[in-house]
Amino acid sequence: MSDKKHLIEEFQRHFGASPTVYAKAPGRINLIGEHTDYNNGFVLPAGIDFSTQVVLSQRSDNNVTVVAQSMDSHDRFTLDNISKQTPRDHWSNYVRGIFWVLQQHGFSISGCDLLIVGDIPMGTGLSSSASLEVCLLQALSLANHLDLPPTTMATLGQQAENQFVGCNCGIMDQFICANAQQGHALLIDCQHLSSASAVVPEPLAIVIVNSRVKRGLVDSEYNLRRQQCEQACQILCVSSLREADLAMLEAAQHKMPELIYRRARHVISENARTLALKNALETSEISQISTLMAESHASMRDDFEITHPAIDTLVDIIASTIGQHGGARMTGGGFGGCVVALVPTPLLPTVKNKLAEQYFLQTGLHEEVYLCQPSQGVQGELLA
Ligand code: GLA
Repeated sequence: MSDKKHLIEEFQRHFGASPTVYAKAPGRINLIGEHTDYNNGFVLPAGIDFSTQVVLSQRSDNNVTVVAQSMDSHDRFTLDNISKQTPRDHWSNYVRGIFWVLQQHGFSISGCDLLIVGDIPMGTGLSSSASLEVCLLQALSLANHLDLPPTTMATLGQQAENQFVGCNCGIMDQFICANAQQGHALLIDCQHLSSASAVVPEPLAIVIVNSRVKRGLVDSEYNLRRQQCEQACQILCVSSLREADLAMLEAAQHKMPELIYRRARHVISENARTLALKNALETSEISQISTLMAESHASMRDDFEITHPAIDTLVDIIASTIGQHGGARMTGGGFGGCVVALVPTPLLPTVKNKLAEQYFLQTGLHEEVYLCQPSQGVQGELLA
């Protein structure tokens, strides 16, 4: 990853002047709590050491020029009329959406030249888009003296993604990109937007394994899961699944289609597992961590149906290698992407070897393994 000095030189090369603002935001992994955020529930993510960095300088007109170096691409638009690019998930819509959302909230923003560099593997469920949104908000907040607090940046990023880009995501990704703490995961209460830190106990390393499965149908399936959760709420007469428990669900089972019952069972049980994992981390109960992560994966696979056969294979290989000495589950929105595993450090080489031996044989895919350090949330500074 480029350091700040290199980024400044690159900016000078592209724009012939020096940048005045620098910002950096991490990607994220989620240890547990999947598809619970938009149900007002609990999640337990951490920032990771892959990140997005931005440098910018303001212009005297209303134009924005963006160089996205890691994508070898650029974009130019005017703040007088911010239009959408096609396709919907074009990288520049995440940039345009941030300017758009700031305008919607009445902030006065000047035009600027922007250089973006990132090393978060895209489309792997590690939140490259939320990281970009929050990074940009931090840079624009500094450049335009908006003084936006981290949680405000998170909600603005989510609004840009919901209302401009058109993806109906919850708050987890933007919240953790904005508020992550070095060396910690955060238990986030998505209803009250509050958080408490948690530490992964010493013998365990956080390992991310990229399945290299190309994610398909993510948006339509994601939105469908949201609708199914809303349907469950109507039948249970609650405003969110956060308010329901398993006893309520059992009592109402006869009133709901079996599919809706299973969707709700995932969310309700996942909320309980998330709170339980926070406790198990605190008390270093490693076999409990192992059980909770295994149950979370099974619930995503069988009840919420968001995993993928290759992802299930990855989890099985890791779980059979580490037994009750650590845990493994899919992380993120699903339908491909990455697995997060908490692996005892001495077993890391064995896990890597087993994956190299078995994953390709079983799936025809080559995994990628990253060791992850929980990293700080968004940071920025004015450059001299
Ligand atoms: C995606 C969304 C998040 C969250 C996760 C699933 O990452 O952006 O809001 O819903 O999926 O937990």
